[in-house]
Formats: sequence, structure tokens, C-alpha cells
Amino acid sequence: MATLPQRFDPEQCQAVTREVLAAHRGEPGALLPILHDIQDRLGAVPPELLPLIAEDLCLSRAEVHGVVSFYHDFRASPPGRQHLKLCQAEACQSMGAKALTAALQEKLGLQLGETRADGSLTLEAVYCLGNCACAPNAMLGGELHGRVDLEGLLELLSEQEAHP
Ligand code: FES
Repeated sequence: MATLPQRFDPEQCQAVTREVLAAHRGEPGALLPILHDIQDRLGAVPPELLPLIAEDLCLSRAEVHGVVSFYHDFRASPPGRQHLKLCQAEACQSMGAKALTAALQEKLGLQLGETRADGSLTLEAVYCLGNCACAPNAMLGGELHGRVDLEGLLELLSEQEAHP
């Protein structure tokens, strides 16, 4: 696994988490919205914050950890400056996503779930982007791209790098 690009400031993370927890106080089923809000604000849900969340919601750490690890959306560290998500679900698999992923990993020297040591790029697996008819799909910087191939993805990456 590549080195993490950024380090969290623990005090700032705790302060953000306390604000998020306060904003959802008393809300039924608040765990998922809380985790999403924390990730929106910090770029990730650092594992160090799970005890604070568990304590506030009167849940066990194992329960919170179980939810965080069940959903692929939650990251333990912030993504790189470029963030490419490749769909690995069934419709995209049937249209060659597996081979495309392998070729891209080889070309970039990066595996799914990894971030480059310089923080320039994160490659991530996602499971359905809701655009199955145009498989295989990818998302770069929040923008959906259908019927992608290796050349197209490399072009998208260099275009975005040139015009961030
Ligand atoms: S399976 Fe890839 S977009 Fe739905």
C-alpha cells in the first residue's frame, strides 16, 4: 500500500466530529448520516474517531467499525488530488471492467484502494455507479464517464491534471 498523502490533525478531526455529532443529536438512525458528514468534511473517516462516535451514540466500537467497513464508500484516509473510481459491479464486469482495471493498474503502477505516495492520485473500486447501460463506467473527480477504455481513462487523467 502506498504511503498516505496527508496526516490528520487529531484535534481538528475531533472538533469536526463533535460538531457533526451535535448536529445529529437525537436523530434516529444517525450513524450513517454522521459518517457521511464526517467524510464530506475531512475527506475520510479516520479510524481514530470511531471510539468518539461510538461513545456519543451509545454503540460499541465493533458496531461502528462494522458499519464503516461494510460500506465501500468510507475511506480511512483522504483521497489523492485526482480520484478515479472504477466500477467493479456485475454489469461493468460483463463489459470488461476486470481487464480494464488490470490494464490501468499496470499502466499507473497503482492498485485499487491505493493512493500514490505523493498524493497525486487515488484509484478506488466502486460497486455500481447507476449507469449500467453504458458499462464499463468510471468516475473522475465526481464526474461520471461511461463506456470507458484504457486510452480514454488515461486521457481523462492527463486532461484533469493539466486543468485541475
Ligand atoms: S454495474 Fe457498473 S454502473 Fe452499474
